[in-house]
Amino acid sequence: MAESMKGLHRSCRCAELGTGDIGRDVTLMGWCHRQRDLGAIVFLTLRDRSGEIQVLADEASPTAVRETLSRIRSEYVVAVRGRVARRAAPNPAMPTGDIEIRPEEVRILGESETPPFYIEPDIDTNEALRLKYRYLDLRRPDMQRIQMLRHRVTKAARDFFDREGFLDIETPILTRSTPEGARDYLVPSRVLPGRFFALPQSPQLFKQLLMLAGYDRYMQVARCFRDEDLRADRQPEFTQIDLEMAFVDVEDVLAVNERFLQFLFRETMGVEIPVPFPRMTYAEAMSRFGSDKPDLRFGMELVDASDLVAGGPFSVFADAVASGGTVRMIRAEGCAGLSRREIDELARHVRTYRAGGLAWLAVEDPFRGSIAKFFDPDVLAMLAERAGAVAGDVLFFVADRTPVALEALGQLRLELARRLGLLHRDEYALLWVTEFPLLEHDPEAGRYVAMHHPFTSPMDEDLPLLATDPGAVRAKAYDIVLNGTELGGGSIRIHDQALQRRMFSLLGFSEEQAQSRFGFLLDAFRYGVPPHGGLAYGLDRIVMLLAGCDSIRDVIAFPKVQTSACLMTEAPGTVEDKQLEELSIAVVPPSGGPA
Ligand code: AMO
Ligand code: AMP
Repeated sequence: MAESMKGLHRSCRCAELGTGDIGRDVTLMGWCHRQRDLGAIVFLTLRDRSGEIQVLADEASPTAVRETLSRIRSEYVVAVRGRVARRAAPNPAMPTGDIEIRPEEVRILGESETPPFYIEPDIDTNEALRLKYRYLDLRRPDMQRIQMLRHRVTKAARDFFDREGFLDIETPILTRSTPEGARDYLVPSRVLPGRFFALPQSPQLFKQLLMLAGYDRYMQVARCFRDEDLRADRQPEFTQIDLEMAFVDVEDVLAVNERFLQFLFRETMGVEIPVPFPRMTYAEAMSRFGSDKPDLRFGMELVDASDLVAGGPFSVFADAVASGGTVRMIRAEGCAGLSRREIDELARHVRTYRAGGLAWLAVEDPFRGSIAKFFDPDVLAMLAERAGAVAGDVLFFVADRTPVALEALGQLRLELARRLGLLHRDEYALLWVTEFPLLEHDPEAGRYVAMHHPFTSPMDEDLPLLATDPGAVRAKAYDIVLNGTELGGGSIRIHDQALQRRMFSLLGFSEEQAQSRFGFLLDAFRYGVPPHGGLAYGLDRIVMLLAGCDSIRDVIAFPKVQTSACLMTEAPGTVEDKQLEELSIAVVPPSGGPA
């Protein structure tokens, strides 16, 4: 039965105690991590969010204390009042391993059933079970460390931007659709039947309006909602560190954010990041790394082989070049020993990125590999030399349309790095990717879509291209990349009404559509807009990388799974007919699916 804690006051947390506290009387409260009853001696390991400490009762302890201790099971909530003592047999593996508590009073504040899994770090329990019992999963010390780190990251952001004169301003959750390119989550209005709020995909339009309203520097730790396919670094509900600044150009935004990230790494990790960060244009990142978020912890750059194989005897290569595509190669250092099976696996990997195939060449005497028979040894030697390959290396080739070849080899580069163990978690390679294309052609829709969002400003020198070659226009847009993950992105915004209208029309919005979706913004633009720009970080992604996790699910206290459901609350759930009626909503069973 649960006892009251009346008369007891927790004096500190378990692992806040050290040898300096020996002789002190303390009161601790926490969970029983482990209990061992040896008859004459009863041990208890007490756990709270700071860590663990041993409690030991022997024959000298009060009988009632030993009796209570012997009834305690794993995950019982326990209060212990006693004296800090030096431990006879220290445990160097435990931060409090030199001390223990000799209890004078023990109370069971809450009993527990046997939990469905052990509360231990790095347990192999399947994730669905962990998520169903997320409150137990969150009790694990490594999960608690991640949440404490997350708190420090959020606090560092608030501290830093406060010092830099940013105002923390909240923006609505019930709002209109914001165009970040994903599907919206909708909330029906009861009062206005048939009308819907959209949950914000980001505070984008509101933060721009705050600049127009004169607030000058804004920041918010903002929840965003996007109904899109989930991946390891994507959740339907996630958090941004969102900022916007007035009277700035690209350089100003990058500079304050370099200082922020430097501060963040120092405060939370004790790591010194040099500034300024390396910068690379989008075009350069794509051609050197086959990615707009290159992982710079290792080299293995893509190399153009087109001119060396053009018009040559291997038709796959020659045809690719002749039809305006490319042949690119990548050097896998010391990989000549790869088995055929491993090479086939790599070939399958690049095929998932639509590449037609993967050719290879082992640098040996004589050359060996799928293309060795097609070329003269002197051409093969030139390829090896171009790629900087030496004996024992392998060259991999993809011949295709340029974007396909670049992406496929960029992905192969990452796969090779994984296999070669080149991805060190304690190395932090930050860079800016700049000058993104303004527009992207969407073959399905048969029109352009904004690569970042429709409020992003074109680069001044590319403005004339808007009329002649919109696909070639570069934007004042930038991403911050850490170890191959896009941490954040932003842009300088359009602040001219005419240009904003022109942008909407390029994106295929009619005047009426633009007015109906973004009328409030276009109206606002009539009343004095300062030049402005900003950026948003994915907070979950920052914490994931700092904590060394593989998924943002691990850094979100109550995350969702692949289907966007929450296994603990079982949301989304069904609702009463009455609620639907009030909302004037009828549910039509999806065709073919369950009712
Ligand atoms: P963007 O759409 O690039 O820009 O988002 C900014 C950052 O938010 C993170 N992010 C996500 N994290 C987890 N799950 C998701 N589904 C998800 N989607 C995005 C990424 C990304 O870099 N309003 C603009 C910012 C601006 O222009 O100022 C915006 O939202 O880390
Ligand atoms: P084949 O002559 O079809 O047997 O092809 C010889 C080699 O070229 C094989 O290793 C194929 O995987 C490879 N290959 C085929 N298509 C491509 C391509 N588009 N890019 C690179 N290699 C390819």
